[in-house]
Amino acid sequence: MITEPKVGTTFNDQEFKAIKRVLKSGDFLTRGRDVELFEKEFAKYCQAKYAVALSSCGAALKLSSQILDLKKGDEVICQANSFWVTYNHLFEKEVTIKCADIEKNTLNICPKSVKKLITKKTKAVYLVHHGGNPANLRELKKILKPKKIPLIEDSAHALGAKFEGKKIGYNSDIAVFSFSTYKMISTLGEGGMFVTNNKSYANYAKLLRTNFPFGKTVVRKIKKLGIYEKPNQAESFSDSRLRASGKNSKAKFSDFLRMGDAWDLDWKSLDKMGSTYRMTTVQAAVGRVQLKKIESLIRSRTKIANIYNKAITKIPYLEKLQIYKNCRNSWWIFNFFTKDNSPISRDEIVKILFKKFKVLMILRHFPINLNGVMRMQGCNSGGCKKCGKLENVERVWFSRQLSLPIAPQMKISQAKFISRALLKIFKYK
Ligand SMILES: Cc1ncc(COP(=O)(O)O)c(C=O)c1O
Repeated sequence: MITEPKVGTTFNDQEFKAIKRVLKSGDFLTRGRDVELFEKEFAKYCQAKYAVALSSCGAALKLSSQILDLKKGDEVICQANSFWVTYNHLFEKEVTIKCADIEKNTLNICPKSVKKLITKKTKAVYLVHHGGNPANLRELKKILKPKKIPLIEDSAHALGAKFEGKKIGYNSDIAVFSFSTYKMISTLGEGGMFVTNNKSYANYAKLLRTNFPFGKTVVRKIKKLGIYEKPNQAESFSDSRLRASGKNSKAKFSDFLRMGDAWDLDWKSLDKMGSTYRMTTVQAAVGRVQLKKIESLIRSRTKIANIYNKAITKIPYLEKLQIYKNCRNSWWIFNFFTKDNSPISRDEIVKILFKKFKVLMILRHFPINLNGVMRMQGCNSGGCKKCGKLENVERVWFSRQLSLPIAPQMKISQAKFISRALLKIFKYK
């Protein structure tokens, strides 16, 4: 049986050495030096200003809605063919989720559909660079920038993908990445990155990944001990934490109070609650090694995609995924389509591939408007008052979309075997 491997990347001695190095170093197991270095290297690779390492992409998405201060009454537009995690954090915030349709040949969010759904209440748009294929950022930014609506790019699939020559993350409001088991790179099974070009978003994300309440605080006087240096002065905890961690700050005697412990601060107001969303130092060390391999991992995936695409071009009943000009697909998923004139249906192709050739296709990202939770909010097949008709996503998912196994460790011979199987199904050579 040929199907997607259990791991989307490869590991070797370099990762094992990195793990050993951290464990032997005696560094903190979280907040260690590798975390900071991974963040710097990741931001540089994505051509972005800031990167904040987290425990998962889901955590990064959760932080995005905290940072954007989304709340009941706000409207958020989400791409209809995504993974549940892209939008599940929005239910907690009780925002109104509107699903935008997709472009039928790229599988990405349709800018025209987004435009139709915008109202004065729209507070954010969440997209997915589907399967690693970059969405039309130019059109989307043209629509959203004048209205000052932030665009959150779920880039879980798209590490290394490029839109018009620039990496995903370049000039983004927020782009979030996943390093879970199947993804382009992995930090030992789980992990994520919050990437932004907005300094205050980055600072906020760094604070909120720690399990701590944030708001106006008063530093307690501990006069009795004779150690308190500052007069009773209200300052936001975030400010004090940033000041204390600034490059030029010098540790003071009072720092032994462990700035940040609940006993040395009194809260006067509560703004946000942080959570334990940190990436561990060992994960970050592995991430640094993985990041060095990303270009070669993408090359391996592209080789396989090219083999499949060559066969698809020979079959007049199949259609390749469209990639915008001057863009690079990271090929996390290899997607393609049946054409309307195909004598063999999509489902039939899947069946033959499985039964005759032992190739198992996985179809991902069910239309979210048809998910039970969205149905409870009035979404329906064929459309609803909130989102309108989502013809492309339903039609593509239920009858046109196909995908084939792709991973860097797959053998070229396996890709060629699958291509030949496709040609045989349609009686082409
Ligand atoms: C589009 C998308 N976003 C987010 C995630 C979640 O990533 P994580 O498991 O790192 O939270 C996934 C996982 O497959 C995904 O496909």
